[in-house]
Amino acid sequence: MARISKANLARQLRGHVELLAGAGVNDIPMPRKKTATKPAQGAKADNAAPSRTASHAKPAANQPAAVAGKPVVVPSAAVAELSGFDSAQARALEPVAEQVRQCSACNLCSTRTQTVFGTGDPRSPLMIVGEAPGGDEDARGVPFVGRAGKLLTDIIEKGMKYRREHVYICNVLKCRPPNNRNPEPGEIEACRGYLARQIEIINPKVILAVGLFPAQWLTGRKEAIGKLRGQVFEVNGRKVIATYHPAYVLRNYTVETRKKVHEDVLLAVGILGPAPLLS
Ligand code: URA
Repeated sequence: MARISKANLARQLRGHVELLAGAGVNDIPMPRKKTATKPAQGAKADNAAPSRTASHAKPAANQPAAVAGKPVVVPSAAVAELSGFDSAQARALEPVAEQVRQCSACNLCSTRTQTVFGTGDPRSPLMIVGEAPGGDEDARGVPFVGRAGKLLTDIIEKGMKYRREHVYICNVLKCRPPNNRNPEPGEIEACRGYLARQIEIINPKVILAVGLFPAQWLTGRKEAIGKLRGQVFEVNGRKVIATYHPAYVLRNYTVETRKKVHEDVLLAVGILGPAPLLS
């Protein structure tokens, strides 16, 4: 169990309470203190632990599976970055990033250099979701910092005319798959709760999915990326737009591919409006 200072705990709790208040929740019911009464023989104690029913089921990310190797747990770039933001969203994200830092929910925990939680301003109305960290990201703990990341930055800054630091960027997987292989279904499931929490806390207006895996994750559809791109999906009150992954664009650097990506990102700009995304 990681130690957390009282000041940090208070900061994170404040984030949760602020988010709840923003959603109109002004009351937090407290569990009533149980008085220890001796149950009659054969009767079930009042305070006996309830059996776990389906409605109590937690996301897989909180339920570490049997892991082959020892999880690599090192300081997190995301936890450090988040502590520099003064917003309810940043404070609410901190414990999730901390949970990811220590995650052992799938075997990727033993081959990672570190986890890659996300980067950028958590108040952003635009979230970009990639597939999984690659070698550069695994080394630095920050998403999209390698060659594909440089292209993504150009797409944001030159194509959309936004500033990269105004966008929140993360991935479906928080750990690098060995040799940059595709994410496996079990890994996507193990990580599902983390991305779901990021979306819930940041509550972006638009999510741009770059690549097949985030496109399918975010839309719940099974079609190929060529079919999913070029349109706006409405998912849980948010707009989801899919486009090709920057690494794919680098491998297929044609006018046609680049034009399609440009058209896709302009769909997002059409919804969000011109820069700046955040003041
Ligand atoms: N590709 C991704 O999908 N994510 C990264 O962070 C880097 C490369």
